[in-house]
Amino acid sequence: MASNLDEKYMRMCFALAKKGRGKVSPNPMVGCIVLDKSGNVVSKGYHKKYGENHAERDALLKLQNNEAEGGTLYVNLEPCSHYGKTPPCVDLIIERKLARIVIGMKDVNPKVCGIQKLEALGIKVDYALEPESRFLNRVFIKNMTFKMPYVVLKTASTMDGKIATSTGSSKWITSSESRAEVYRMRKEFDCIMTSSNTVIADNPTMEHRFKCILDKDLRTDKYSKIYSQGEIYVASSKNTPLKDGRLDIETVLKELYSRGIYTVFVECGGTLAGSMLKDGLIDEVYHFMAPKLLNDNTGLSCFNGARVENISGASGLEIYEVKRIGSDLLIKSLVRNQRNSLG
Ligand SMILES: NC(=O)c1ccc[n+]([C@@H]2O[C@H](COP(=O)([O-])OP(=O)(O)OC[C@H]3O[C@@H](n4cnc5c(N)ncnc54)[C@H](OP(=O)(O)O)[C@@H]3O)[C@@H](O)[C@H]2O)c1
Repeated sequence: MASNLDEKYMRMCFALAKKGRGKVSPNPMVGCIVLDKSGNVVSKGYHKKYGENHAERDALLKLQNNEAEGGTLYVNLEPCSHYGKTPPCVDLIIERKLARIVIGMKDVNPKVCGIQKLEALGIKVDYALEPESRFLNRVFIKNMTFKMPYVVLKTASTMDGKIATSTGSSKWITSSESRAEVYRMRKEFDCIMTSSNTVIADNPTMEHRFKCILDKDLRTDKYSKIYSQGEIYVASSKNTPLKDGRLDIETVLKELYSRGIYTVFVECGGTLAGSMLKDGLIDEVYHFMAPKLLNDNTGLSCFNGARVENISGASGLEIYEVKRIGSDLLIKSLVRNQRNSLG
């Protein structure tokens, strides 16, 4: 059972782990706290960069003597037990004679069986803040379990859920502050994904180092602004199988993963958003909502998937952040689907 103290130290691990955000991918973000046998914090560490020491090794190697003997080690992910870019962390934990380990979550990497090894030697293993640990490393969990990128869909609408009028007029629904926030957000992802329709309707640049355009029949003009910079992967019927007459986006996502794309930011209209939502391909939605009501049902909707008869057929979201940006609201939600079950 996790005590309040265990939770306090696990939260400290999360804070340390987050220092590695953006630098450790495709590895997880991990932080570690070491207490001596009297309960004093004697060391801290975190995974700083892909290929560098894991959090436990970073913390334990800072100790000169045997300060950790009989103590407790907190780490938000099960310690590794295999040789990767660094030696197994469990071996160092055993060597330093820790008496108890508190972990946030089991590693989803099947090569890791650190808990088993520790317990076999009589080292006590407890858990603390498991759901929060899984939330912190949700990208890693999705990547490792499904060999697919983590997908966030951004949409910007009026308060009645419209992204454009029936004539396609959409500039601008949200405030300049929200649009600046989108420019900033894009940098957090490995790839931006968009559609032929959005490129044709808006001619956006979507500045980014890697962009994926879904364009089954190669309808987009190669002189459109989107082609003016960055590496571009065009998914078309020439390189992607079709599903129900449309590009099979799951195959596209797996192809992107094989090219080292671990996170995808989707910017599109209601057709693609609706189809991806229906197929369980969206892990999160970032919804910018402007204080406007279009008051016209012929306007385009953010999500335009299949006809749903019963309200129980609505997709469930779990809001985890709400922020005011300029005059708008930004609502960040998790989409619960079979590919990102967060436990
Ligand atoms: N407010 C916002 O956040 C926002 C963001 C972007 C765009 N928009 C607006 O959205 C409007 C365009 O919306 P839209 O609904 O016409 O287009 P969309 O949702 O952006 O794209 C739909 C197109 O995506 C392609 N696609 C490829 N695979 C697909 C699949 N499996 N399922 C569904 N579509 C697939 C298809 O074109 P192919 O057959 O050519 O492959 C399809 O016609 C524009 O007016 C634009 O201004 C708004």
